[in-house]
Amino acid sequence: MSYNIAIDGPAGAGKSTIAKAVAQKLQIIYVDTGAMYRAMALFMLREGVDPSDGETISGRCREADITIAYEEGGQVVYLNGENVNACLRTEEVGNMASATSAQPAVREKLVELQRVLAAKEDCVMDGRDIGTCVLPDAQVKIYLTASSEVRARRRYKELLAKGEKCDLKEIQKSIEERDYRDMHREHSPLRQAEDAVLVDSSDMTIDEVIARILELCRRRAAGRDDEEGRAADGDAPKGGA
Ligand code: DC
Repeated sequence: MSYNIAIDGPAGAGKSTIAKAVAQKLQIIYVDTGAMYRAMALFMLREGVDPSDGETISGRCREADITIAYEEGGQVVYLNGENVNACLRTEEVGNMASATSAQPAVREKLVELQRVLAAKEDCVMDGRDIGTCVLPDAQVKIYLTASSEVRARRRYKELLAKGEKCDLKEIQKSIEERDYRDMHREHSPLRQAEDAVLVDSSDMTIDEVIARILELCRRRAAGRDDEEGRAADGDAPKGGA
C-alpha cells in the first residue's frame, strides 16, 4: 500500500506551496488536483462553454483527455496531448474550475485519475475532497485554512509581484465567493474530514506550517497522535506509516 498524505482546504490557504515542500522533504511526489480541474476548465473555456451550462459540461468533459507526468521533479498536466501548465493559474481559469468542478461527471473522471496515481505512488495530494472522498484511507489528513483576509492579502502580493493590476477588496470578494461555491456544491463539497487535523496558517509562516505537518507525519508513523507526544526522530519513512 502506498503512503498518502491528503491536504485539503480553501483557495489561497497555501496548500500547493506547503504540499510541494512536504513532498520534497519526504521524497515523494506532489499531486496538485486543482491543476487537473483547471485543465478541464481550460478546455471548456477554449470551447466557449457557458460555466452555468452543467449539461454541456457533463457531456463534453469526455472530450478532454487529461494526463499527468512528472518532468524534472514537477507535475506537468497534459490536455489532449498539450502541456498546459503555463495556462492554468489565471483568475479566469480558477473561476471556471470552480464551476466545472461542481459537475459529477467531471469529478468522476478526475477522481479516478487521482486514485490510480495515489495507489501507484507515495504522494502528498492536495485539493478540496482528498481526505473526505478521493483517499479516505490516507495515512495523514490535514485541513489547511486561513482567514479570507489573510488569503486575499497573500494573493494580492503574488499578483503585484507578477506586475498584475489588482484590487485587494475584489480579490477577497472573489475568494469568499469561491469558498461559498466550493463548500456548498452538492457533490464532494469542501469540508474537513472527521479524522483530519486542522491547521490554521493565518498567523504562521510557511516554514512553521511545513514543520507542523512533518511533525504530524512523524507522530502518525510512530503511532503517537497525542498533541503532547514527543516527535520521533527523522521524517516519516518513504513508503510506510
Ligand atoms: O486549488 P485550485 O485553486 O487550483 O482549484 C481550482 C478549483 O478546482 C477550485 O475552485 C475547486 C476545484 N477543486 C475541486 O473541486 N476539487 C479538488 N480536489 C481540487 C480543486
